[in-house]
Amino acid sequence: VKGGNGILVRTVSFADKNWVRNRIVQEWGTETVVVHGQVYHPAELDGLAAILDEKPAGLLTYHCQEGALEIVTLNCWQEKRGAGSVLLEAARATANRMGCKRLWLVTTDDNLHALGYYQKRGFTIAAIHIDAVHRSRKIKPEIPITGYDGIPIRDEIELEMIISK
Ligand SMILES: CC(C)(COP(=O)(O)OP(=O)(O)OC[C@H]1O[C@@H](n2cnc3c(N)ncnc32)[C@H](O)[C@@H]1OP(=O)(O)O)[C@@H](O)C(=O)NCCC(=O)NCCS
Repeated sequence: VKGGNGILVRTVSFADKNWVRNRIVQEWGTETVVVHGQVYHPAELDGLAAILDEKPAGLLTYHCQEGALEIVTLNCWQEKRGAGSVLLEAARATANRMGCKRLWLVTTDDNLHALGYYQKRGFTIAAIHIDAVHRSRKIKPEIPITGYDGIPIRDEIELEMIISK
């Protein structure tokens, strides 16, 4: 997929494993992500990479289950150049191709930027799971107590997009 601003999106392959794993550890503290009681190893999941100036600039990993595609991680390290938007669009196209009717993800209460970012791009809030991060910390103690802007990380906010075509 070729996005605007010369950004290319391609699927992650075996050859990407090293940088993908390093990037996950860098962004998420360890190789695991714990969300809604589930432990994911994002580097082992299917992924999409945004390529800018021939270098990876963003990574989205996902998991498809029961007719729904969950975005497990989304990170862009060359921000505000459209990589995140192109990755989300590619995830939507992937969900559609796989016959998934629902595209969804979880963010946390401290991530006000992500909350606005996803809503601007067609996601709506589907549920708020109060204190869910407290349960995740029992599995992954590395999850910090406070997140962006010193806000305590506490609740999981589930966002979704229903795919019509
Ligand atoms: C959230 C995140 C993925 C967004 O990635 P990104 O590549 O910066 O996203 P985009 O470039 O598509 O959009 C960011 C902003 O840049 C703007 N932008 C995009 N292309 C632009 C360009 N060429 N010139 C100027 N501005 C541009 C967009 O309009 C957007 O602003 P808006 O949100 O007010 O509409 C990124 O900030 C990130 O990795 N955050 C940390 C991890 C995180 O929170 N992940 C999501 C929760 S799990």
